Amino acid sequence: MDIDNIIQGRRSSFPAQYSGDKIPERVVLHLLENANWAPTHYHTEPWRFKVFADGGLNRLMDALAAIYKERTPEEAFSQAKFEKYTDRKSKVSHAIVIVMKKSLRPDLPEVEEVCATACAVQNMWLTLANYPQYGGYWSTGHLVYTDEFREFLHLEEDEMCLGIFYLGSLREDAREIPGRRGDWNEKVSFQYN
Ligand SMILES: Cc1cc2nc3c(=O)[nH]c(=O)nc-3n(C[C@H](O)[C@H](O)[C@H](O)COP(=O)(O)O)c2cc1C
Repeated sequence: MDIDNIIQGRRSSFPAQYSGDKIPERVVLHLLENANWAPTHYHTEPWRFKVFADGGLNRLMDALAAIYKERTPEEAFSQAKFEKYTDRKSKVSHAIVIVMKKSLRPDLPEVEEVCATACAVQNMWLTLANYPQYGGYWSTGHLVYTDEFREFLHLEEDEMCLGIFYLGSLREDAREIPGRRGDWNEKVSFQYN
């Protein structure tokens, strides 16, 4: 596959598109190995990943459901949203929690560590091009930034959760959601002199 197809064909695939079949461990390890080749200022390699599957995935979903319930005022509570987490237990194969570990270097702004971690996630995502029967997406939402979730993950003081990369086997009939982008020309300016 050429680079244009890999980059432009990368898609977010959501749990509703997953069959529930497990992804082989070697595929998950391949994604994580390529994540580690992201660019990184001062070679700090700030990306950390916590991989949840099987009983671990159940615990993760139960934790998110509990935090959602605890944090959401009664009038805003949605039973469907709450049940989304239970539903994921049977649909998702692996959930990779994305963590940025901030370097102690005073000359390295945190934003650069976040950028490097995002590059690592993109590497995982692009590696999925090798395995068209599997898909994934980066999920955030306000719960991943809460103290309760930090506690569940046992994050250190210098660590920050940047979301969850959900992975699943794609159903044969899963609807391919077409990619959509505005014109790149409108986001670029050239200043050549
Ligand atoms: C940092 C980040 C956070 C995201 N968080 C969510 C999310 O919480 N929920 C969601 O449905 N999609 C989330 N996405 C995925 C976007 O919805 C998706 O990338 C966008 O719709 C473009 O679709 P594509 O990835 O198929 O090109 C996130 C993507 C990024 C980069």
